[in-house]
Amino acid sequence: MGFNVGIIGCGSITRFRHAPEYMANPHVDEIVFYDRNIERSQRLAEEFGGRVAEKLEDLLSDPTIVAISDCSSNEAHHINTTKALLSGKHVLCEKPLATTVEQAEKIIEAEQQSGKKLMLDHNQRFTNAHQKAKEIIDNKELGEVLTFKTTFGHEGPESWGVTKSNATWFFKKDRSHSGVAGDLGIHKIDLIHYLLNDEITEVHAFHGALDKVNEKGEPIEVCDNVVSALKTKKGRLGTASFSWTYYGKEDNSTTIYCQEGVMKIYHDPDAQLIIEKRDGSVIKYELEQIQTNDNQTSTGVIDAFIDCIVHDKKPPVTGQEAIASLRVIEEILAN
Ligand SMILES: NC(=O)c1ccc[n+]([C@@H]2O[C@H](COP(=O)([O-])OP(=O)(O)OC[C@H]3O[C@@H](n4cnc5c(N)ncnc54)[C@H](O)[C@@H]3O)[C@@H](O)[C@H]2O)c1
Repeated sequence: MGFNVGIIGCGSITRFRHAPEYMANPHVDEIVFYDRNIERSQRLAEEFGGRVAEKLEDLLSDPTIVAISDCSSNEAHHINTTKALLSGKHVLCEKPLATTVEQAEKIIEAEQQSGKKLMLDHNQRFTNAHQKAKEIIDNKELGEVLTFKTTFGHEGPESWGVTKSNATWFFKKDRSHSGVAGDLGIHKIDLIHYLLNDEITEVHAFHGALDKVNEKGEPIEVCDNVVSALKTKKGRLGTASFSWTYYGKEDNSTTIYCQEGVMKIYHDPDAQLIIEKRDGSVIKYELEQIQTNDNQTSTGVIDAFIDCIVHDKKPPVTGQEAIASLRVIEEILAN
């Protein structure tokens, strides 16, 4: 027998990922959509089937709803996710968990108090190329990781978010808080922590609003670019760049330099993982394209979330791990 799920926030991430992936999951009977802009929840209920909750309280008090996705904008996560947990729902929260580490820690307190599961949508971990890279690192097939280089950039969120304009909340300090750092950067920080089984503890960074303008034509209040040099607890060194001004194809690439060779991930569209060994041999893995704004494939995140509820397992991306990544983003912005 299945159960119902609720979604808070009915914008782009709900439309392209959460709603279709819940619909495809055999344990989910019905989706109940809530957005403070009711036209958006009505539109998605029509598109995917399902019901609309007119008020957040209706969603939270509905006993048929076992789990909730919090897909509201960043500044609302700590309110919505906390309320959902304390209402007895399991929560899949979009990244970043909160706009500050302090708020994120309060969410963890609510998780502990509720006894419910909290998972974060750090979907990069779930792609085939990243999974394969993790396996190679864990098995020490290329020896120890020494250094890394990662980037994530595209042309910016104004063409992605549901408002489709420069008035987007992604550009507002009081709503996004961290600009491209918390939007794209946090994905790669989480990925590096996950792949290397390590944690970034030292940060040197530059960030700036180089090109994006708001609806009045003024420079945006948050950063549209970050370049950073990073050091991990285990002493690995790396660089990371995040951008909303890569005005060509999206760049989602990572390179991991190990004692016995190099791993190139998402550099080549035909071979998503390339291993160049120290002895000169090269292995090319054809795995899959990563999800991009223009190419939405299943992330596997919803299935993993439902699976940890159904089988009472620890979520594969925890609140504590989300805080570790958020802390790095705070340090980047403090530079
Ligand atoms: N995991 C990923 O790869 C990924 C990708 C894109 C966005 N996101 C995250 O998903 C979240 C939503 O982003 P989006 O791209 O869908 O934005 P969006 O602007 O397209 O949609 C956000 C929706 O949330 C609604 N909303 C905002 N605050 C609310 C509140 N307090 N109560 C009810 N509804 C509220 C808005 O009305 C809007 O419809 C953000 O936190 C973003 O960082 C994650």
